[in-house]
Amino acid sequence: MQIPIDRSSDVPLYAQIARFIHQQIRIGNLPPGSSLPPIRSLAGRLGVSKAVVSLAYDELATAGMVEGRVGAGTVVTASGEQAARRWQEIDPGPPTDQAGALYDLLRLANRPGLIRFNLDAPASGLLPTEAFNRSLRAALQEHGPEAYAYGPPEGAPQLREMIARYLATRGISTSPDQILITAGAQNGIDLVVRSLVSPGDTVLVESPCHLGALQVFAACRVHVQAIPVDGDGLDPERVADFCARFKPRLLYTNPTYQNPTGSTMPLERRRRLVRLADEHGLTILEDGVCNELEFHSPAPPALCALGGPVIHVGSFTKSLLPGLRLGYLVASPEQVQRFTRVRQATDVNSPMVLQLALAHFMAAGHLERHLPLLRQELSSRQRRLQTALAAAFPAGTNWTAPAGGMHLWVRLPEQANVVDLYRRALASDVAFAPGDLFFPGPAPAPYMRLSYGNVSPGEISEGIARLSAVLQDACR
Ligand SMILES: Cc1ncc(COP(=O)(O)O)c(C=O)c1O
Repeated sequence: MQIPIDRSSDVPLYAQIARFIHQQIRIGNLPPGSSLPPIRSLAGRLGVSKAVVSLAYDELATAGMVEGRVGAGTVVTASGEQAARRWQEIDPGPPTDQAGALYDLLRLANRPGLIRFNLDAPASGLLPTEAFNRSLRAALQEHGPEAYAYGPPEGAPQLREMIARYLATRGISTSPDQILITAGAQNGIDLVVRSLVSPGDTVLVESPCHLGALQVFAACRVHVQAIPVDGDGLDPERVADFCARFKPRLLYTNPTYQNPTGSTMPLERRRRLVRLADEHGLTILEDGVCNELEFHSPAPPALCALGGPVIHVGSFTKSLLPGLRLGYLVASPEQVQRFTRVRQATDVNSPMVLQLALAHFMAAGHLERHLPLLRQELSSRQRRLQTALAAAFPAGTNWTAPAGGMHLWVRLPEQANVVDLYRRALASDVAFAPGDLFFPGPAPAPYMRLSYGNVSPGEISEGIARLSAVLQDACR
């Protein structure tokens, strides 16, 4: 099979290879059962890296056209007719909507061997799995089969109690009946938006903004008004102006170690924001998913600790175990009842066994012991990442180091095209989150979000060296 490769084309090499093979399947030159050349030999023949060919085969496999078989290598499974129908899937073109783009990025980035600056979560080596396993066994011993029963829809009373106590240590005074256990913060955002906002209502969001929140707003068909954030997060004066002009129902904000910019809103702005929400009848949905990940001193108090119409969502996915999918929402008891009814229509309740294990884990003081270690490790990785960036990235690149959290928001030279860069980086086995995805409208400049929680210290230098090579090449 002679695959024509055009190195001057804007189409990445892996996409050229995937397209050509796809075309061969479509016109019947590669019928079902034919074997594709082994990755190593095709890479050698084409003069490209194995990663490029592997990415092309991954694309074809994801589109259902080929599959890897033990002993037989990669084998064609689709007929010409099927291949014709799936063209759209293999060649989606540049991402056009955020939901599609996120799906595409996560799917493509889920490859073994990839250096993952794209995932905002702690790596497996940073997870207190031994201690959690012990809590799981203890919870099972204590609760027996009850641990596998349906649980109260608001969440396990033991966990709600432990969260209320934990939040008190973070300056948030609340009671268990103000807490709803959710499937991570994302579920909390979705419940609040679906409960409080109707299609066509106006919602204020930060720009740039957590992508998952933008997805919820798009799914709920609300009208989004984006307010640019600066180095101190949202400017309350701009929020006041938007309130007067658009009469919004809800403001979504992530005031501490914001995703993606990493900015933290100072206390004075927080106070002013809560006051003006009260004046304008605006509900604030505060996303505090990384609140406890400070490197030196804690951030200013959460908005919900300052009174006013604030609903707070938090999670144990960043601070503890991403796969637990346990988070919480803090609201008035009446709102908690309302959100619970909405939640019941979706997934009834979070697994009791995990809630009981987490309650045991917290009661035994493991969370308190784990957080300082995690903070220290994240802080050290952030320093390492900055050193690597300063040494390798081209002039015209800049960033501000956040005081906590797990990502760095990097502004790239004007001529960089981040989506193209992303695809090139993937071919070099390194992934990041393209800045364009986080803007509700067109991105004002090229940015990349580099998360360091999922990248080991050794991978940081290697990953930045690869990214830098791709960036220098693309900006030439
Ligand atoms: C700001 C922000 N909010 C919410 C979420 C979703 O968190 P969870 O995984 O707990 O649902 C994320 C995840 O990246 C996030 O960055």
